[in-house]
Amino acid sequence: MNDSRSIVILTGAGISAESGLATFRGPGGLWEGHRVEDVCTPEALAADPDLVHRFYDLRRGALAGVHPNAAHQALARLDEAWKGDLLIVTQNVDDLHERAGARRLVHMHGELTSAFCAACGNRVRWPDPLPPGSACVACHQPALRPDIVFFGEMPYGMEKIEEALSGCDLFVSIGTSGAVYPAAGFVQLARSYGADTLELNLEPSAGSHLFGESRFGPATSLVPAWVDELLK
Ligand code: APR
Repeated sequence: MNDSRSIVILTGAGISAESGLATFRGPGGLWEGHRVEDVCTPEALAADPDLVHRFYDLRRGALAGVHPNAAHQALARLDEAWKGDLLIVTQNVDDLHERAGARRLVHMHGELTSAFCAACGNRVRWPDPLPPGSACVACHQPALRPDIVFFGEMPYGMEKIEEALSGCDLFVSIGTSGAVYPAAGFVQLARSYGADTLELNLEPSAGSHLFGESRFGPATSLVPAWVDELLK
C-alpha cells in the first residue's frame, strides 16, 4: 500500500486492555460491575449525579497508574510517518493514544480528562476529581459534567469521521466488539466507498463477517506487526 493512500483506524477498549484498563463487555468488564443505565445515560446523571461523577472520577483516577502499550505506540509511529491522510477514531475515553504521541485523533465518545458545561457548552481540561455542581470556568454556572458521550447522545466529530470514511482506501478496526453504533457501522460505510477493511481483535467480534480480513490476537502483537508491514 503506497503511503499516499488514506487510512481510517477505529479503536475500542481492547487496545487499552493490555495497559490495564478494563474493557466493557469482556470478563471483568465495566458493564459487569455497573449497569449502563446507572452510569452512562443523561437520565442516570440527572437521577444520581454523585454516582455518575464518582464512576468517572474512578476511571479518570486510574489513568495515572497506566501507560500506553505497544499498540498505542505503533499507531503513533504510523501517524508520524504516514504521508497520506490518516485519522484515528477512538471510542476510548482514556488518554493513552495522545500520551503515545498520536496527533490525528478524534475521541468520538469524549474524554475522561475533559469537563463539559451543560449550561454553556464550554469544554475544559480536567485531570482531577469532578464533584457534581462544580462551577464552569466560563459561565460560572454549577453545571460541569464529565465530558463523556452517554448512550442516547450524539458522538463527537461525526462530520469529520464520515468525511474521512468517504475518502479512505483502508479502514482498520482494532479492539472493539462492534456492539455500539454508530462506530459499529463504520466498516459498512467504508466498504460502500470501496475501501479495504481489516479487523485486528483478540477474538471474533459482532462485525467480523463484514471485514475483508480479520486477524485475531492481542493488540500489542497484531498492531505493531501491521504497522511494520505498512511502513516497510
Ligand atoms: N487485544 C485486542 N483486542 C482485545 C484485547 C486485546 N488485548 N482485549 C480485549 N479485546 C477485544 C475484545 O475481544 C472485544 O471485542 O476488545 C473488544 C472490547 O469490546 P468492548 O468491551 O465492548 O469495548 P468497545 O468495543 O470499545 O465498546 C464500545 O461501548 O459501552 C460503550 O462507550 C462505550 O466506547 C464503548 C463502546
